[in-house]
Amino acid sequence: MSMKDELILAIESSCDETAVAVLKNNQELLANVISTQIAVHQKYGGVMPEIASRLHVENISIVIKEALEKANISLDDLTCVAVTRGPGLIGALHVGLQAAKTIALTYNKPLVPVHHLCGHIYANEYVSELKFPCLAIVVSGGNTELVLMKKHLDFQIIGETEDDAIGEAFDKVARVVGLPYPGGVSIDREAKNGEHIYHIPHPHVEKKYDYSFSGMKTAVINLVTKERNNHREVKVADLARSFQEDAVNYLLDKALPAVDEFNIKQVVLAGGVSANSYLRSEIVRRLKDKDVEVVIPPLWCTTDNAAMIAKVGHYLYKQGVFADISLGADPTWQIEDFRNFQE
Ligand code: KG4
Repeated sequence: MSMKDELILAIESSCDETAVAVLKNNQELLANVISTQIAVHQKYGGVMPEIASRLHVENISIVIKEALEKANISLDDLTCVAVTRGPGLIGALHVGLQAAKTIALTYNKPLVPVHHLCGHIYANEYVSELKFPCLAIVVSGGNTELVLMKKHLDFQIIGETEDDAIGEAFDKVARVVGLPYPGGVSIDREAKNGEHIYHIPHPHVEKKYDYSFSGMKTAVINLVTKERNNHREVKVADLARSFQEDAVNYLLDKALPAVDEFNIKQVVLAGGVSANSYLRSEIVRRLKDKDVEVVIPPLWCTTDNAAMIAKVGHYLYKQGVFADISLGADPTWQIEDFRNFQE
């Protein structure tokens, strides 16, 4: 390891994955360790925040040690420490943050605070460099945002959901029909065996690029109740297929006009719902005749990981975006405020 090498240690603990990565010179991912808690939370049908925090505490040092061993480096070698500061579960975020702060303090390294959704967007750089203007379709369990990027580290929300996130709607629909957590994964799997026989309406939202997904969830609940009251069977696979296609079509119908309006060169997907098979194929199909690059994150990048945090960490480090040791977590941090982190 030469002295000139840039070595970023990144830590992510915003939800139910404890993750640590080491990125060398913004190119070589030397380690990408993820300890997932999904099996534990599945028993409860969703993430239990207190259990998530406790498991992060138990796992964080083990995951850090494993990443350092995989990368074959020591903490002394680091250029800086990047860490997810928000958004996410407050208790969960704090675990990663305290670990990062302790390393930064003990080894006298810069501390780089990273916005979780910037991470999901930058995950696409493991496939293709970001090109601007870029439209990022951010679809996760907690957020649905259309983000315009005119250059690196420049985020403008042009549209967002007015209520539930799209992932939340997938999760709630899955729960209504008795499918396991994470609901989006179950719906996607079931949809493959179903037909699009139901129509799931969405409410009209005035603003051009804004959404409402809670209305679609309610429409599904009403449909299931009505069918059950009439002693008719709701075929889960058909409902899954219908909801998945109606929700994704709604997402794309509203998002894609932005490609022309903002002269977009590249469209990227970001967040957990970007794993959805229909979304992945449909966005490529709809944009194939346009002069725009469509980047689909690799599946490992659609779930939480620290490799994506390291990517953003690289660009922030280059711009000298450092925090001091008083840095706190922010569960509702807005992407446009990613440079504001000192209270
Ligand atoms: O980004 P993420 O891991 O969590 C947040 O930071 O919010 O996204 C999790 C969300 C969950 O709502 C999950 O059901 C959804 O992503 N999801 C999917 C698929 N895989 C995960 N939704 C639709 N189709 C999928 N294949």
